[in-house]
Amino acid sequence: MKLDYKILHFETTESTNQIAEEEVFRNRPAEFTVFYTDFQTKGKGVGSNTWYSNRAENLLLSIVLYPDFLNPADQFLINKIVSLGVCQCLSEFIPQRNCFIKWPNDIWIDFGKIAGILSRNTIMGNQFETCIVGIGLNVNQINFSPDLPNPVSMAQIAGHPFDRDQVLHSLIQRIAYYYNLLKINDLKEIDQQYLEKLLYFNSKATFIADGNEFEGIIRGLDQFGLLLVEKDQRINKYDLKEITLKINQ
Ligand code: BTN
Repeated sequence: MKLDYKILHFETTESTNQIAEEEVFRNRPAEFTVFYTDFQTKGKGVGSNTWYSNRAENLLLSIVLYPDFLNPADQFLINKIVSLGVCQCLSEFIPQRNCFIKWPNDIWIDFGKIAGILSRNTIMGNQFETCIVGIGLNVNQINFSPDLPNPVSMAQIAGHPFDRDQVLHSLIQRIAYYYNLLKINDLKEIDQQYLEKLLYFNSKATFIADGNEFEGIIRGLDQFGLLLVEKDQRINKYDLKEITLKINQ
């Protein structure tokens, strides 16, 4: 499959998600237009978090999608295919390590966070309008602020730096591959690969919910992307704000 995509590069911007959103609103750029920057002054993370990244060391990008074929109730599927695309890209450049999807939107390697995904969807009535997929991938940064929880980069793992453009192009192609699987509705393949990559799937893990720490087993996700956790032979559903997964190193 030949993918046409356009990369718009900015030396500095507040946030690629922000400029992508503005541009979608103003000019509706083609699907797979990529807003890519060397440095963000207001990089956004999940919730009220900030995404920090040294200048020109990592990948900071937002991809514009128009998944109008998708039922808004299934929007978590976008998150799944993007996570799979990031994992495939990482397997190409650092095949010596397995990477995992830490639900709902982190990519982990060696008990460290190597990438984060922040999507912003626009839905009108029952119709999916736009999806801006923001991705921060740690490529060449070696020194991280001690305030960040467990960051890790491709260069730290491999012991050498990478060509960011090469990683960027691979990343876009990989995401496009999985986006196409979504278009042709191959949900079985997507779900199977997702569960293979899901951190702690079918194994015991420690969680915190309602202020209580407990042991449970991740049994998968429901249609809406809620996490299914088994505890005392009962399966409970959680959304992001309700549960924290503790990483046992
Ligand atoms: C997370 O909190 O894990 C998600 C981080 C997402 C960061 C990326 S960097 C490119 C894009 N622009 C932003 O402001 N955030 C996303």
